[in-house]
Amino acid sequence: MNAMKIGIAGLGTVGGGVAKAFAKSGEMLGVRAGTPLEIVAVCDRDEAKREAFEAPQKFDDVRALAASNADLIVELIGGENGAAPLLVEEALKAGKHVVTANKAMMARHGARLAALAEQHGRALKFEAAVAGGIPIVKSLRESLMTYGISAVRGILNGTCNYILTQMEATGRSFADVLKDAQALGYAEADPELDVGGGDSSHKLALLTALAFGVKPDLDAVAVQGIRHITPEDIGFAREFGYRIKLLGIAKKTAQGIDQRVQPSMVRAGTPLADVDGVLNCVVVDANEAGSFFFEGRGAGECATANAVIADIVDIARGNAGSVFGLPSASLLALSAAPSGSAASAFYLRFQVLDVPGVLAEIAGHLAQWRVSIESMIQRGRAPGEAVSIVMITHETKQADVERALATIAASRNVIAQPCLIPMESK
Ligand SMILES: NC(=O)c1ccc[n+]([C@@H]2O[C@H](COP(=O)([O-])OP(=O)(O)OC[C@H]3O[C@@H](n4cnc5c(N)ncnc54)[C@H](OP(=O)(O)O)[C@@H]3O)[C@@H](O)[C@H]2O)c1
Repeated sequence: MNAMKIGIAGLGTVGGGVAKAFAKSGEMLGVRAGTPLEIVAVCDRDEAKREAFEAPQKFDDVRALAASNADLIVELIGGENGAAPLLVEEALKAGKHVVTANKAMMARHGARLAALAEQHGRALKFEAAVAGGIPIVKSLRESLMTYGISAVRGILNGTCNYILTQMEATGRSFADVLKDAQALGYAEADPELDVGGGDSSHKLALLTALAFGVKPDLDAVAVQGIRHITPEDIGFAREFGYRIKLLGIAKKTAQGIDQRVQPSMVRAGTPLADVDGVLNCVVVDANEAGSFFFEGRGAGECATANAVIADIVDIARGNAGSVFGLPSASLLALSAAPSGSAASAFYLRFQVLDVPGVLAEIAGHLAQWRVSIESMIQRGRAPGEAVSIVMITHETKQADVERALATIAASRNVIAQPCLIPMESK
């Protein structure tokens, strides 16, 4: 029986994990695939990494790997532009299947690469790109299709979830907990892609494409990170019976698809609120088929290698399938809901000078934008000094709250940017 010949590019955390898993369980994986699986080539720009792996061919240039005798290329270099998309394009054009874990590349170039894969009759799979070890891509692409999907929500970044969980457990600030997370290897030296929400937005754009049959549209995702969340916000959330999580949310609305990455209040005791530490989760509302909750490791060598290998075995079995679940010509351009059209209750926190009339001033600006208040807390008095005022609104459009906050922020009695956090109803 002819073996499926595999070439791996990028021998870092995930690539190293894939190579190790093959060394340990390659024979069993071949039996499951129905054909032997053989690593015939590796590629990395770092010579020491190349030398650490057993493979008949070793390359430092992705173009050489794309031109090798491999039937399937595994792209584990990463990055939206540069070597990764170059390798994927060259490999598909050379008639090779591709497996990738690269969310940035797939979110930005996924529609074009899907069309290229189809044109050359080859598979392009990316299970590991979204929520690492959770088999959510396959589930959306192949299982949850009959009744359509109304919403997908999830905790898509383990670094942010770890930081928020630790802030809640210890009462420490974002900056302090981030430093610990970096020391423990849970956050990068440059953490912006994670804590700024960009990494979650890549994954959300891919979930949206799979769930709603549209081309991934990264620019249509409204993104907010977690830097502005304080221990005080987390404490108030607890008092109201909520926890703060960075959620990626994609919802079908009458005005289009709403895609947001935003810190959100999630009701304590719900499965979503109970996802702690570096874990990820995805909730899929599949209309008549019901709601589905997936939880697991969103990153790490073994969880991610498992997802990459599942794609390889799938391809070896002959299960190519459409990249986003539909032929690429049937993928629609995403029609985005107007910015700020999502409606919910909101948590608002104002840092104000404790002077007469400040409360009436805030309430007046909110009323002007039809934002009505359900409850309010002001702790203690400190005449002339700073105090926090916290309000919970009735359901209202985010755009209206934002307009009111822009006016309130300009008041000389308001001494910091007001904080707004949507409250999830379930
Ligand atoms: N780590 C995870 O848990 C995880 C989870 C889900 C998805 N992913 C995705 O998986 C992919 C790989 O992530 P990773 O964490 O394994 O990254 P990594 O540890 O940084 O490994 C990437 C490897 O590719 C090499 N490389 C960079 N540019 C290259 C080039 N032009 N030609 C050849 N080799 C090159 C790097 O070498 P240098 O060291 O010299 O840069 C490094 O050895 C990314 O797309 C990432 O988003 C990762």
